[in-house]
Amino acid sequence: MTAFATPPISPLRISFDPATATIEPTGPILTRRMSDLEGLFADQTEWRRSASGDDPVVYTVTSSPVPELDRELPQSITTILPGDCGGEFHMTKGHQHPDPQGEIYLGLTGVGGLLLFDGERTEWIDMAPGVIGYIPPHWAHRSVNVGDEPYRFLAVYPGRAGHDYQWVLDHGMGARALRSPNGYELAPYESA
Ligand SMILES: [Fe+2]
Repeated sequence: MTAFATPPISPLRISFDPATATIEPTGPILTRRMSDLEGLFADQTEWRRSASGDDPVVYTVTSSPVPELDRELPQSITTILPGDCGGEFHMTKGHQHPDPQGEIYLGLTGVGGLLLFDGERTEWIDMAPGVIGYIPPHWAHRSVNVGDEPYRFLAVYPGRAGHDYQWVLDHGMGARALRSPNGYELAPYESA
């Protein structure tokens, strides 16, 4: 019999609906509105107008009950609603893992991008249903909806990795995804 340093949670059967991002049994649900994304979009005038106006939901994160604890492997489904702010596509805040550990994203619905930045290099992975994006340790990551329907992905990550959002405010993400005649284009990062 293996001795555990801390009692693990019980094995779980978790069902989810990719079309609605519902998870059963469910855990915490996070909603990020435009007003929660201060300092992230390049067009601050448009951001302020939107955040102080209808303040739309930009994305939600629905988690399973697996806790963010060392040795556990939590999961969540993020839904980024379609739209843009001053031509810059709806996106997540982006974060770095304070405890550098890898993570995987699996595309579920819609089309999006996984933007990665290690402080020097920028990478972009086109995401779609059935695509796994691998995030290595030490790479900050942000997801972007570049389509016209909800972009959803499943994330699976080490429970002790943590989320450092300030890192992105301090360092940027190396590039921005802007609406273009062909869909999207990546533009060099300029601070907001
Ligand atoms: Fe992460």
